[in-house]
Amino acid sequence: MKSLWLDREARITSDPLPDGKHFDTIIAGAGLTGLVTALLLSRSGQRVAVFEARTVGAVTTGNTTGKLSLLQGGVLSSLRAQYSLKMVHAYVEANKSGQAWLTQYMDQQGIAYQRRTAVTFATSDDGGQRLRKEAAVSRDAGLDVHFSRDAGLPFHVVEALELENQVQINPMDVLEVLVRDIRDHGGLVVEGVQVQNVGSGQPLEVTTRKGSFTADTVVLATGTPILDRGLYFAKLEPNRSYAAALRFPADNKIPGGMYLSIDPPTRSQRTFPTDQGELLLVGGYGHPGGRAKSPKSHVDALLAWAHQHYPGGEVTHTWSAQDYRATNLMPFFGKLPRGHGRILFATGYNKWGMSNGVAAALSVTADILGGHSDWATTIHHRVTHPQGAAEAIRLNASTAKRMIDDRARVKRNPEISAETRPPEGKGVVGLYNGEPAAVSTVDGNVCMVSASCAHLGGLLTWNDAEKSWDCPLHGSRFSPEGKYLEGPATHNLQKPPDKKKD
Ligand SMILES: Cc1cc2nc3c(=O)[nH]c(=O)nc-3n(C[C@H](O)[C@H](O)[C@H](O)COP(=O)(O)OP(=O)(O)OC[C@H]3O[C@@H](n4cnc5c(N)ncnc54)[C@H](O)[C@@H]3O)c2cc1C
Ligand code: FES
Repeated sequence: MKSLWLDREARITSDPLPDGKHFDTIIAGAGLTGLVTALLLSRSGQRVAVFEARTVGAVTTGNTTGKLSLLQGGVLSSLRAQYSLKMVHAYVEANKSGQAWLTQYMDQQGIAYQRRTAVTFATSDDGGQRLRKEAAVSRDAGLDVHFSRDAGLPFHVVEALELENQVQINPMDVLEVLVRDIRDHGGLVVEGVQVQNVGSGQPLEVTTRKGSFTADTVVLATGTPILDRGLYFAKLEPNRSYAAALRFPADNKIPGGMYLSIDPPTRSQRTFPTDQGELLLVGGYGHPGGRAKSPKSHVDALLAWAHQHYPGGEVTHTWSAQDYRATNLMPFFGKLPRGHGRILFATGYNKWGMSNGVAAALSVTADILGGHSDWATTIHHRVTHPQGAAEAIRLNASTAKRMIDDRARVKRNPEISAETRPPEGKGVVGLYNGEPAAVSTVDGNVCMVSASCAHLGGLLTWNDAEKSWDCPLHGSRFSPEGKYLEGPATHNLQKPPDKKKD
């Protein structure tokens, strides 16, 4: 599956691997967070290199739905259930700063975007109640939201909350300009370089698959942090969801706002202007990463919903991506524990990274260069509410249980042999020479890899939508050949053992 944004003619090119080995700052990850951080630092005169494991935007930013909105479904009322109003206000101020920075940047650089009304809608009485809570907290936090009974949607809506003058973007247009701008300021963006470790000496030694480098400061803008210091992978839940673009005959009128349901399953909607008229973009139907029986059935459900309410659309793209929700709901950004203040990171945007990612980049840059914002100080001083702590315990208990259950289950699965050949597009897990192995058939190629995740050994599951091996514990993903795709792992999958251990 390829997103509408990544399906573009002009590919962003990579800088060659640098000859020089030392940088002021090395940034791991060329999504929105990493590239905004790199631009801000290189503008200040720093010598900066961005190392990207895959290609620019390949993971979440290139697969987002691209709403740059302060109206964020039920986020503010969920935060308010755990934090003081001051903390919720700081979250809103962070998002306002992120939104303002990005909008101003797109204006300065001539990047097209659209101003739209953001709408959160309820289709049930429960949803209506949640929406009223969200409205109250939003107003308390300074957002000018209002109710409208007619959201202009072609299905029954109980209530709809609106915030005018929000923004929708093409994220790859933004990343392309950021890369050019970073280079114009002397920085490098190098693709295909996976950071595998960061030492703790002075300077920091950055180990990659393509050699070692040093830097005074390292920023992990890798989605979920790739270093286990601080155990952030255990405080983040990966959530995978689905999106599709649909084209309609020219006389079809599609609602022009940016919509999001407050009731489950999440259904998201926006438009995208093209030379041949507006496309409808729909999204949602998510689940915890690696834990759906059939991810493809989630794509099918999303498309069925779109066709039911918008008949006659031709599907041009389907895609999926995952983002990370912090157990205490507040994004993490700042100094990584045991990083001596020189390793910084940002994560946990809970599907609102267009504004949170930029806010995190602003804050991380201020930490490095010496700056201050009230919202960052407030967020840094948060205290996890018992509900957030309980959520962390629940997540880790469920992860531990999953690990134990999976290990027992794999022993009950049929054994795998060198002759195992799953049907096209399918993958199976079983024991091979006494160890968990995973075999798939994609485009006629049968491939066997270890079924133990390269992060901490979770038992991988087959993703029948993306044709990948996904980990149900912390969200690492691998290609059928075992190549790292995303998540906290830093290595590819191993080959299964060719003979039984004694
Ligand atoms: C389906 C979906 C829809 C969404 N829609 C919206 C929306 O409408 N509005 C909104 O605000 N947010 C949305 N989000 C969230 C938003 O897209 C993300 O929060 C944001 O893109 C995260 O940006 P990032 O730069 O932190 O991460 P990423 O874009 O994932 O970038 C991280 C990069 O790090 C690289 N990397 C990883 N490990 C290494 C390593 N070891 N070495 C080097 N590089 C590495 C990866 O390859 C990747 O390119 C959505 C998320 C999803 C899943
Ligand atoms: S992602 Fe942690 S064990 Fe797989």
